[in-house]
Amino acid sequence: MSKPAPQNNIITLRTDGPLICQGSFTLLSVDGEVLAHEEELYLCRCGASRKAPFCDGSHKRIGFVDDAQFEDERCEELDETCGQVTITCRTDAMYVIKGPVTIQSEDGRSVTRRSRAALCRCGASGKKPFCDTSHKLCGHILD
Ligand code: FES
Repeated sequence: MSKPAPQNNIITLRTDGPLICQGSFTLLSVDGEVLAHEEELYLCRCGASRKAPFCDGSHKRIGFVDDAQFEDERCEELDETCGQVTITCRTDAMYVIKGPVTIQSEDGRSVTRRSRAALCRCGASGKKPFCDTSHKLCGHILD
């Protein structure tokens, strides 16, 4: 029996909602503690979750709006995005992604591939899904 093909790592931006991470993901706290090691994670990107970094549906409560469309001038030429990905939560700041991953909008119209990325988790970036350092101004407390 042949082995199943390795799964591509994909982060899908749900319109007006969380990051959906599917593949081989390890989620780390700023101290390096493993918060999750899962094939599917729903991570808050609105900044309002009471269970951060996980989405708890608060994006609906606060009326978070993002069409999930983006452009990425730093797209990399990766043939595939298989392998291990770590996501580290920076205190009061971004998610730091290390490892091969496809990042895409829910409708598939916006797509990029990266081996490194800094993704917004405060909801305030003007360049979502990427961090533009707006977390310094928005005042969200993010563990
Ligand atoms: S994106 Fe769902 S609670 Fe923030």
